[in-house]
Amino acid sequence: MVALDGPSGTGKTTVARKLAGRLSARYLDTGAMYRVVTLAVLRAGTNPDDLGAVGHLAHDVEFSLGTDPEKPDVRLAGEDVAAEIRGPEVTRAVSAVSSVPQVREVLVARQRRMIADVLADTGGIVVEGRDIGTTVAPESPLKVYLTASADVRAARRSNQDTAAGRSSSVEAARESVERRDRLDSTRAASPLRAAEDAVPVDTSELTIDQVIVALTELARRRGLLGDCPAAPAGATGAGVTT
Ligand code: DC
Repeated sequence: MVALDGPSGTGKTTVARKLAGRLSARYLDTGAMYRVVTLAVLRAGTNPDDLGAVGHLAHDVEFSLGTDPEKPDVRLAGEDVAAEIRGPEVTRAVSAVSSVPQVREVLVARQRRMIADVLADTGGIVVEGRDIGTTVAPESPLKVYLTASADVRAARRSNQDTAAGRSSSVEAARESVERRDRLDSTRAASPLRAAEDAVPVDTSELTIDQVIVALTELARRRGLLGDCPAAPAGATGAGVTT
């Protein structure tokens, strides 16, 4: 198992999915879980800042999440909501919803069950989030904490929004990214933070492929590689050390 944590805009999702493909592992996007619960809160007309109501609702949300890195399916009561959970309404409300202790309790328990099922069945899983190395799976044999400068993260988020057909500017993306970082890292319940034994990787100056090479090398050193192909000749792990 690989635990991949870090703030938004660090390339976590792209890296996690590609790494899972490379390791022939499954993939779990825990952020999608917080997003799908947030969508349920909004659809129910519940105020995302009403802790009691949100906590109550979290127990009853019926959703499913696939673990295929090629196509991680997300469904709310059977409906495909993969695009909707990335929209601005959910993005604005998700930090409030994910700060509610009951929401975290329900989702962390579900994440641990999914991880245990995969590990008992097919073997490997790459899990991305904010508290995987610290709370969900502190026993993970490889923990990576991705970072990137605020400028780079804002530019990446803005590009992603534009590519997904959502209107965006770098300034608005920067504000949104910084607001979410502030809320995610200052909340009381398992805030965003690097585990003490996580390997920090600054992706500001790296391409996705360079990050993948670096992480594959870390996975190899931890004996997590199985029979996945070796890194391409000449590829460099860009100065990442264990
Ligand atoms: O990775 P993402 O941007 O899709 O995550 C959405 C939000 O969910 C993020 O702002 C904080 C929350 N989250 C969390 O609290 N814990 C996780 N393990 C994953 C996400």
